[in-house]
Amino acid sequence: MTVTDPLALRRTLGQFPTGVCIMTARLGDELLGMTMSSFNSLSLDPPLVLFSIDRKARGLPAWEAVESYAVHVLAENQQALSNRFARPGAKWQGVDYRPGHGGAPLLPGAAAVFECDAHARCDGGDHVLFLGRVRRFASHPERPPLVFAQGRYASLHQGEAAPSLWPLDIHY
Ligand SMILES: Cc1cc2nc3c(=O)[nH]c(=O)nc-3n(C[C@H](O)[C@H](O)[C@H](O)COP(=O)(O)O)c2cc1C
Repeated sequence: MTVTDPLALRRTLGQFPTGVCIMTARLGDELLGMTMSSFNSLSLDPPLVLFSIDRKARGLPAWEAVESYAVHVLAENQQALSNRFARPGAKWQGVDYRPGHGGAPLLPGAAAVFECDAHARCDGGDHVLFLGRVRRFASHPERPPLVFAQGRYASLHQGEAAPSLWPLDIHY
């Protein structure tokens, strides 16, 4: 198939499973929050992560202005929170949080949290690529992460919990 069919390309990219994150930040009095599956690890030394934001996102100018943010890797019981932060409107109404690094609001219940400083931004076509430098992190391995694949949420643990396959003897 050629790349002239963006829907087919998107569907095919959806064959690559990801987790689901909510990025949060504070800009002055405004709280920012956005659901994102484009999160990934980039570098251990220095500790860098990446994600990309659609140029059509209303919040993009605010995200380009923040100096720090928190990345929440959602647990599989946080689908409703994922949907809430994927829609415009009152994302924060009634949501519990506490302030973290740089004032970024920290949401409870995530499988992992990375608190980052904004490190760099690059052109990413119809998205803007953000690189973050990890300053603090927290892990909750007892909370299975939410998975996103083929355009829908999925569970890592169907039936019996699979044994951990990490660390793998490969470099990627
Ligand atoms: C599972 C999932 C993953 C998403 N991943 C991204 C992403 O990586 N980048 C992005 O720009 N939008 C992504 N979105 C869409 C945004 O969450 C949504 O458009 C955004 O919250 C709207 O923000 P706005 O109010 O600033 O326009 C995703 C939505 C869902 C449900």
